[in-house]
Amino acid sequence: MEEKDQLGRRNFLAIAIGAIGAVIGVVIAIPAVAYVVGPALKRKTSEDWVRLGPTSKVELGTPTLFKTTIERQTGWIVTEEELSIYILTEDGRDYIALSNICTHLGCRVRWITDQGQYFCPCHNAAFDKIGLVVSGPPPRPLDRYETKVEDDQLYILLGG
Ligand code: FES
Repeated sequence: MEEKDQLGRRNFLAIAIGAIGAVIGVVIAIPAVAYVVGPALKRKTSEDWVRLGPTSKVELGTPTLFKTTIERQTGWIVTEEELSIYILTEDGRDYIALSNICTHLGCRVRWITDQGQYFCPCHNAAFDKIGLVVSGPPPRPLDRYETKVEDDQLYILLGG
């Protein structure tokens, strides 16, 4: 009978130790898994205003090129991306921000003052001052960004 009690006690101790070990394992594993997997599951949902520079740099009626570098995070990977944005204003109050990426195959367009057009050298496309397609294969106008001005600084809104 005593032997049977001892076996029962040993089994109980073995089960109790195993259960405590399992609880400790779970307590350690959950934060570790969350730490490793969390960033990969995070989706960027917020929208970001990116500062381009002072409004005083923009010539009235002439698209002015602003360049800035932003960081994009995808999971654990952070990459830097250079943005080149043309800013146009006719009155110093309302601003148009246009991407310099051609909507055909992604080449960079540049403003040609003499012609009053953006030119894409890849397939000889042209866009007018506000980014509408004038000639060539691009399927749509240059992409636009929402703009705002705060303390004489220009900002564009990047989608999330
Ligand atoms: S990439 Fe610009 S016209 Fe083809």
